[in-house]
Amino acid sequence: MYGLVNRGLKEFIEYSASESTWRQIAGQVGLGDEPFVDLQQYPDELAYDIVGAACEALGSPADAFLRAFGRHWILFTAESAYGDLMSSSSGLYEFLENLDRLHVSVAKSMPKLVPPNFGVEEIEAGWVVLYVSERSGLEPMVEGLLEGLLETFAVDGTVKQIADSSYGEKRFLISRSSD
Ligand code: HEM
Repeated sequence: MYGLVNRGLKEFIEYSASESTWRQIAGQVGLGDEPFVDLQQYPDELAYDIVGAACEALGSPADAFLRAFGRHWILFTAESAYGDLMSSSSGLYEFLENLDRLHVSVAKSMPKLVPPNFGVEEIEAGWVVLYVSERSGLEPMVEGLLEGLLETFAVDGTVKQIADSSYGEKRFLISRSSD
């Protein structure tokens, strides 16, 4: 995955634990002091190794860590590096409808991007988000990303994974709180 994701992991660990915790984890996964380059590709295993080492160091279950990371990534990493892309939609539904196009435009500067695919359906209680990826185990991160988006778009609601679609797509229910 591109350095933007790994930099987000580093910053999330520094923010939620400490810089020395990050240095310990970095050492454990064979990294030195060099900063991540956002537009450079790193092997996916590195991100998975960082998550594994962080969960061990923090005593955190992987799903809770990934969920909190997803939220942080939207609110801090994406917001600071790609604020214009993040605020280019008029609302959450339109933004979710455009997520694949957003990744396509990101791929202009990251030509080897292997992005996930998303779809969204509006239902009475909120929205159902469909997610397809070549990678496994990232569903809790998607829940956190969607939670971050709820905050970005000032929508009151909750996110939870629900049963896969009959085509095997992962699905998430965003329930809007009624006011
Ligand atoms: C401007 C904002 C965004 C940028 C710059 C961005 C960029 C990226 C990058 C660089 C990756 C790593 C893929 C690779 O290196 O091959 C990635 C993966 C991913 N992105 Fe985005 N992204 C953005 C917004 C979002 C949003 C809003 C979501 C919300 C759901 C999202 C969901 C994901 C997921 C789940 C992955 C993990 C990879 C996978 O599931 O296969 N991204 N994105």
